[in-house]
Amino acid sequence: MSEVIRVENLKTYFKTIRGTVKAVDGISLHIDEGEIVGLVGESGCGKSVTMLSVMQLINVPPGKIVAGKVIFEGKNILEYPSRGSEMSHIRGAKIAMIFQEPMTSLNPVLTIARQLTETLEIHLKMNPLDARERAIRLLSNVEIPNAKGRIDDYPHQFSGGMRQRVMIAMALSCNPRMVIADEPTTALDVTTQAQLLELMKEQVTAHHTSLILVTHNLGVVARYVERIYVMYAGRVVEASPSSELFARPRHPYTIGLLNSVPRLGETRKKRKLVPITGMPPNLIDMPTTCAFLPRCHHHIPVCEKEPWPILREVGKDHFVSCYANVLEKT
Ligand SMILES: Nc1ncnc2c1ncn2[C@@H]1O[C@H](COP(=O)(O)OP(=O)(O)O)[C@@H](O)[C@H]1O
Ligand SMILES: [Mg+2]
Repeated sequence: MSEVIRVENLKTYFKTIRGTVKAVDGISLHIDEGEIVGLVGESGCGKSVTMLSVMQLINVPPGKIVAGKVIFEGKNILEYPSRGSEMSHIRGAKIAMIFQEPMTSLNPVLTIARQLTETLEIHLKMNPLDARERAIRLLSNVEIPNAKGRIDDYPHQFSGGMRQRVMIAMALSCNPRMVIADEPTTALDVTTQAQLLELMKEQVTAHHTSLILVTHNLGVVARYVERIYVMYAGRVVEASPSSELFARPRHPYTIGLLNSVPRLGETRKKRKLVPITGMPPNLIDMPTTCAFLPRCHHHIPVCEKEPWPILREVGKDHFVSCYANVLEKT
C-alpha cells in the first residue's frame, strides 16, 4: 500500500523562561493510503504538538521545529514557508484537521453555509450555486437532519455533537488525502462519542481518506483504528497493529494504559482497573535514561544505565522501545 505521509525524527521544542520544553523529541511515523491510525498517550505527551508541527501551525516563538522531515506526496513539506501558498493549499485542501472544540475552528459570525462554500469556492474553484449544493450534500452525509433547512444557521444554533458533525463535513469537503482528528470527541458524552467515531470511520473509508485519530484514551480508539502509536514524553514508545497491541502489549507504559481503561464488551466487575502511578516527567529536565523508568514495574538493571532505548521490532509491524523483554498476557 502506498504511503500518504511519513514523519521522520521530528523534534519540536519550546523556549520558555524555565528552560527548553522538549515537547516532541524524535518522532517517526507513517500512514498509508486509506489507513486509520491512532496516536495515543497521556495528556501533555506531545500528541497535539506533533500534529501541529506537521501542519506548520506551531507558534514561532516560543516553539520551533528543530529537526526532522515531514514527507507528504514525495516532498518534505517542512521546507515550505509556514505562511506560503503551498502550506495554505495543503492545510485547505490536502490535510484537514478536526479539533476537540469545534467552536475554535468555526467562525461564530458566519453561517454554516458560508463557511462550507467558501473553502469549496477557493480550493475546488466551484461556483456559488454548485458549492451550496455540495455543502448541503456534505451535511446530509454526516447525518445532519434537514440539512437544506439548517445550512443557513449559525454555529451556536447547533449542539456540540452537531457542530462536530459540521467539522467532519468541513474536513472532508475538499476530498483531502488525510484527516487529522485531535481528540475530536473528548468533550462529548459517551454515546455521541461513539456515533461520531463511527461516522468518521464510515466517511473516511467511503472516500479512501487516511485518518489519524489522536486521543488520550486507548479504550476509545480500540475499535476504530488499524494501527496504534503509543507516545510517552515526546517519543513513540510502542507502535503496532491494534489487534496485536491489545493481545500482546510489550511496553510497560502500554500495559499500564491498557490496565487503566475499560475494554469494549467487558463488565467492570471482571477486571480491576489499575491507574498508572506517578507523574509523567518534566519535559524541560528530561532524564537521559528511559523517561518511563520512575513509573515502571518491569525495569531491569540495564534501564538505569543506558540511554532511552530506540524502537526495535518484536513482531510483524510491532515495535517497542524497552530493554526489559516484557511479554504480558492481557
Ligand atoms: N506554547 C507552548 N509553550 C510552552 N510549552 C508548550 C506550548 N505548547 C505546548 N507545550 C508543551 O508541550 C508539551 C506537549 O503538549 P501537547 O502536544 O499539547 O500534549 P498533548 O496533546 O499530548 O496533550 C506539554 O508539556 C506542553 O506543556
Ligand atoms: Mg492535545
